[in-house]
Amino acid sequence: MKQRIIFGIMGMTGYGKTYLTRKIISQHKRYLVIDPKLDDHYDSLFPLYNLKDVANALIQKEFQFVYRSEKFTSNMATFYEPLFRMMYLVPDVLMVVDEIPFFMSPHYISPALQALFLRGSKTGVSILWNAQRPVHVHGDALSQSECVISFRQTHWNDLSRFDPQYRNRLRTLEWKKFGVIEGEWHAILPLLGKVKASPDF
Ligand SMILES: Nc1ncnc2c1ncn2[C@@H]1O[C@H](COP(=O)(O)OP(=O)(O)OP(=O)(O)O)[C@@H](O)[C@H]1O
Ligand SMILES: [Mg+2]
Repeated sequence: MKQRIIFGIMGMTGYGKTYLTRKIISQHKRYLVIDPKLDDHYDSLFPLYNLKDVANALIQKEFQFVYRSEKFTSNMATFYEPLFRMMYLVPDVLMVVDEIPFFMSPHYISPALQALFLRGSKTGVSILWNAQRPVHVHGDALSQSECVISFRQTHWNDLSRFDPQYRNRLRTLEWKKFGVIEGEWHAILPLLGKVKASPDF
């Protein structure tokens, strides 16, 4: 990957966020997946459970793994801080955060994750994040993303986050269909590689 890209995927459960994420990462050579909810869709990836092993993996030329802390705390944002700080030091890497609201709310974002969003271009950290509900996502993630797409949304509170022109279309999207609600689809084409996916609007 030449330039760093931030891409956000939103949408109700079961509509295809993780499926699309997995297709995208299969094109890449240097990535880690942060998977706080231990989704079985990442079971085929090599799992790492502690930061020492992660640090060793990140200095390899190529790496593809999923980081899964078995610890569940009420404050995952603080618990994952050292990992996000570490990512700041890794050049040319794709970091996938599945269910990013584990680490943020509209009013709070883990400081190290915030640094990756706001200043990660220094090292070249690309970020592919996903979240079910727009109302759970911090503004820094939205504003720094080259492109944000959404699968179906039906709750009025989530829909109210979007430009009125998109609301009806988002409410009626079928399974696997999505629209671009922020930024430009073409901005993430280098991240997509050969993945065949295209927005419905
Ligand atoms: N484009 C697609 N083609 C075929 N199957 C798909 C596609 N998109 C999603 N699926 C299947 O639908 C199911 C749900 O998709 P996925 O796990 O990606 O949803 P999700 O949006 O990540 O949901 P959650 O928020 O619960 O994690 C999975 O079994 C997945 O394999
Ligand atoms: Mg998912």
